[in-house]
Amino acid sequence: MGDRVMWFNGAVVPWGEARVHVWDELALRGANVFEGITAFWDTDTRKHQILAGPEHLDRLFDSARLADIPTAATRSELWSALAAVAAAHPGVDVYLRPTFYPTSGRSTLSPDSAGGLYIGGFEFNPTTPPQVRAVVSGHRRFGGPIGAMAKAGGSYLDFRLFERERLERGVEHVVILNERGNVAEADGAAVLLLGEKSVTTPSLDSGVLDSITKRIVLDIARHSGCAVNERGVLREELYRGQPLLAGTLMGLRLLDSVDGVDVNDAAATATARTLAADYERLCRGNHVLSKVYLTPLT
Ligand SMILES: Cc1ncc(COP(=O)(O)O)c(C=O)c1O
Repeated sequence: MGDRVMWFNGAVVPWGEARVHVWDELALRGANVFEGITAFWDTDTRKHQILAGPEHLDRLFDSARLADIPTAATRSELWSALAAVAAAHPGVDVYLRPTFYPTSGRSTLSPDSAGGLYIGGFEFNPTTPPQVRAVVSGHRRFGGPIGAMAKAGGSYLDFRLFERERLERGVEHVVILNERGNVAEADGAAVLLLGEKSVTTPSLDSGVLDSITKRIVLDIARHSGCAVNERGVLREELYRGQPLLAGTLMGLRLLDSVDGVDVNDAAATATARTLAADYERLCRGNHVLSKVYLTPLT
């Protein structure tokens, strides 16, 4: 892992020194909650600007409550730790991944409940593949008692099957339906369907993570006069308009095809491209909504 570093229970340490025991709850039951966060290097102030930092912290603590995972840091301790990891990467954009995990105790009510915090951080430099094809998965996404709204490690076990399917089908992405057979989300991304002057996306009762990138994109869309519809989305709607994937790690990605059906709506594609360009400008501090979503990470 070269010069990668990790915040590990109180200090930034070399990547290889962040170790847990195989009998910790983290390894034994895959128990953890996490966030993926980006911080963009601002050449003027020579500081990182975190994108939607408060929203990510809210979701991390909400996930911990939903999945009953102990939180080993307060919000301000977590913020300082994120800043310390980002500071180890001056001059480049960074991806930060804080994770709360239990070391012992099968519930936070257990007398031996104890937990830890680690934060992986590395340079963020996303690229888009030459073709972006998706297939609809044959597996459905069920939230279980914890639900899809918690960003909990255990629920990402399902994604091993989706990823296997994606590789077997030889495409770049996989779209997952919920138990009703409607569109839920994609691998690491929310699904949005663009029309010429509209954006439609599965509502929060569709078995989805409440994607923060999606929330930002919907804000940009409203700002530029697009109608925003959050509702149940039928699988058939994937084959009309311009599907767009939105996630912290991949940013915004326009799909070229779904299940082999090529996207063929020039007006919707143009709207999606404008949204994607606006999102890039927002991340760089050059959009009217930048001041809403960017905060110096110090
Ligand atoms: C299952 C799933 N849905 C959606 C998203 C997108 O969420 P966000 O925009 O908050 O990164 C992710 C991101 O990792 C994800 O894992």
